[in-house]
Amino acid sequence: MCGIIGFTGRCEAAPILLEGLRRLEYRGYDSAGLVTGTGRQLHVRKKAGRLCELLRLLAAQPAAGCYGIGHTRWATHGPANDRNAHPHTDSRGWIAVVHNGVIDNYAVLREQLQRQGVVFRSDTDTEVLAHLIARCYQGDLVGAVQQALQLVRGTYGLAVVCQQEPGIIVAARLGSPLVIGSGRAGRYLASDAHALAGWVDKLHYLEDGQICQLSGEDCELFDQRLAPLTITLQDAPGELTDGLLDKGDYPHFMLKEIYEQPEALTNAMRGRLHEADATAHFGGLNLTAAQLRQVERIIITGCGTSYYAGLVGEYLIEELARLPVEVEYASELRYRHPPLDRHTILLAITQSGETADTLAAVREAKRRGQITLAICNVVGSSIAREADGGVYLHAGPEIGVASTKAFTAQCLVLTLLALYLGRLRHLSAAQGQRILQELRALPEAVRAAFACHTQVKSIAEKYAHVHNALYLGRQYLYPVALEGALKLKEISYIHAEGYPAAEMKHGPIALVDEHTPSVFLVPRGQVFDKVLANMQEIKARGGPIIAVVSGHDPEVAALADDVISIPHVPEYLQPIVAVVPLQLLAYEMALLRGCDVDRPRHLAKSVTVE
Ligand code: AGP
Repeated sequence: MCGIIGFTGRCEAAPILLEGLRRLEYRGYDSAGLVTGTGRQLHVRKKAGRLCELLRLLAAQPAAGCYGIGHTRWATHGPANDRNAHPHTDSRGWIAVVHNGVIDNYAVLREQLQRQGVVFRSDTDTEVLAHLIARCYQGDLVGAVQQALQLVRGTYGLAVVCQQEPGIIVAARLGSPLVIGSGRAGRYLASDAHALAGWVDKLHYLEDGQICQLSGEDCELFDQRLAPLTITLQDAPGELTDGLLDKGDYPHFMLKEIYEQPEALTNAMRGRLHEADATAHFGGLNLTAAQLRQVERIIITGCGTSYYAGLVGEYLIEELARLPVEVEYASELRYRHPPLDRHTILLAITQSGETADTLAAVREAKRRGQITLAICNVVGSSIAREADGGVYLHAGPEIGVASTKAFTAQCLVLTLLALYLGRLRHLSAAQGQRILQELRALPEAVRAAFACHTQVKSIAEKYAHVHNALYLGRQYLYPVALEGALKLKEISYIHAEGYPAAEMKHGPIALVDEHTPSVFLVPRGQVFDKVLANMQEIKARGGPIIAVVSGHDPEVAALADDVISIPHVPEYLQPIVAVVPLQLLAYEMALLRGCDVDRPRHLAKSVTVE
């Protein structure tokens, strides 16, 4: 979603801002802009479309100066056009603002400002901030920002410059991440630490309510009332390297990340398999075994793919640990009032650690006194810091908007957690040992699943023209059906629905015709015969069938039009292996349809607005 970058120091800002914006591209955006300053003049350049449009504009109208802020916008208020792109300025052009988040009371503020004679030049909520700050400005930018923020309700990560205060950037955070860093060339600011790769070795993540003022030499931190705070610089996370945004030999990040899964799974397991106790163990749960034995119920929450991993977690924890689990979309949970007792814990699942709804659900649970845990990929992210404890995926940075390796790593960490909780309760040491052994073989099984890629490619050629597709699975593979359908729709724009296979006849079967393929997940397992019967129902109505099976399965082959074979693994690990052909199918279909696989339309990598 929207990205922010800022620099003030001893060299030209524009090239740094542009490089920072390039690094933020993966978050998803529809316009980009920057402002730099020389003497008492600001140079605003902004353009709808990809970054190359902004580059073209800058080639014609360069922006000089050693300080500035930049932004990639993901439209919320007003369409993606030049006018609505950030930065936004006040009427005199003294103040320029870039902003992530949403100002909830912008309509009231806009009306008040208009009554006072302010003419708005965009449809955005952000422009309100520029005018408010200008109205509060009396020669002290940080003071003006602080006063203006008293008037707004909503969420923000924002950066502001003022032509009267050359070299100064003021930034503030409430609900939308911002990180500041020091490097040899000066001071930096970004909405995502990845954007500062190679430039800084120390970082400070702004907390909600903090305001900071950066200059080339200094960095000052304040609370909401402008009382000074001490900056706690942390080492930049290990994966913050220049090579981060390198696709290597792969044409797309998505494909690279699909193929990184065996390694990601190995990393997610590393150091966590405890041979002697036949269990898994974790460093960051911050709960003792005794406390965990008191847990009587788990509520899992997340959004999108992370929510689907949560559904896999429900099957895993109920089977291995015999604990009741509920899975709830974070956007729903945050406004619900489910009865919770002190033996219920909230487990948030999130790749980015920045998803606004998931963060809000964690905060709401904390407010009500619940213990919160997070399974998260990005070290130091807002949710990782907010939760009482948690487990990092260690899957490595995921850049493609379509989540792939994070999903399989999430399912794996949930398996480890289920094993751990199970061993604290009823699982025997022998059962624990068997699970450890099966887990160790998992990365190889995923590697072997890549053998289906060529075949998946030809299946994609057969079906790339379709308008609808169905994904069907049962039990552990029901969430995988949902995930397969999500992958297809988000990157190929084909309408796809995931269903528990038996639910078909309660409505969706009406969609079946010869142009609507059904992707069936039918590896051998306890409901194999039932899924076979569901396949017959589709077949009888003339629907083409693509079946994902374990090994060689003549019974399924007799019914299906296309069969994709994956390695045999125990049922509780099937989601991690069975999702691989679905990821590849979505990828190949999207390519054939000429879609931008890594940056699908309208989507953002981390959704930082509610
Ligand atoms: C997955 O492919 C999506 N792009 C999306 O559904 C994503 O999983 C969701 O926005 C949640 O993100 P998070 O894991 O970073 O919280």
